[in-house]
Amino acid sequence: MDLLNQMQHHVSVRDFEATSLSDEVKTKLFQAAQSGSSSNFVQAFTILDIKDRLVRNELADISQSAAYVKKSGGFFVFVADLNRQAQILKANHQSLAPLKNLESFLVATVDTTIAAQNMALMAESMGLGICYIGGIRNNLARVAELLNLPALTVPLFGMTIGIPTVKNGVKPRLPLNQFTAVDQYPRAGFTELKDYDQAVHQYYLHRSSHQKDTTWTQTQATFFAELRRPKVAQFVKKQGFELVK
Ligand SMILES: Cc1cc2nc3c(=O)[nH]c(=O)nc-3n(C[C@H](O)[C@H](O)[C@H](O)COP(=O)(O)O)c2cc1C
Repeated sequence: MDLLNQMQHHVSVRDFEATSLSDEVKTKLFQAAQSGSSSNFVQAFTILDIKDRLVRNELADISQSAAYVKKSGGFFVFVADLNRQAQILKANHQSLAPLKNLESFLVATVDTTIAAQNMALMAESMGLGICYIGGIRNNLARVAELLNLPALTVPLFGMTIGIPTVKNGVKPRLPLNQFTAVDQYPRAGFTELKDYDQAVHQYYLHRSSHQKDTTWTQTQATFFAELRRPKVAQFVKKQGFELVK
């Protein structure tokens, strides 16, 4: 299958065989993660392979995605990580302030996400299924405790990877003309969502499980009707990111 074809068949998998991923497969996945672009080559991420069943079960409960986090072939946590740089700067008797602003935090979150998506694509190319698990951000303080995270690290999301038993249908995406433009942002545009809403409506009505009667715009209005995870900012600051300047 060519790469675009593989990408266009992406679906999040939430039902896995219990078979664990082999060390060979994990090494390939980590090599894919290792190979992404990195802002100024900071390589500001760490991937934790969660093998301890008790830790994994608690992460599953925190993320409210219990069944599939507990059962997939592997569960990995992606940590935005400037602790390495902190050690280098300390050894060099330099100030840590440049690691603590919003720009550095963005650099680390972007690097981590690129690594994760490389790993996801590699897994899918091997016939495995994946699901990102942002649910770990439901209780970051406890996640940091469980994973023994030092200052200047923030766990962004988990990822389940394993052999799929059930696969959903592909979710229709925004059409190209609703997220690309030439030269300037089309202030009046990106609002032709009627056809897309219909496509998503049909998808939700007829998918194999958890059918619902809604459109994409409705799901967005509902999702953003309340503040999501208001404790994240406090946690990020507690980890040492001052996010000023
Ligand atoms: C950063 C991130 C966090 C996510 N967190 C969760 C999660 O906690 N639980 C879950 O079931 N799906 C999670 N997802 C999967 C999304 O719900 C899914 O990608 C989206 O609905 C599109 O569906 P698809 O991946 O099947 O195309 C997450 C996706 C991303 C990118």
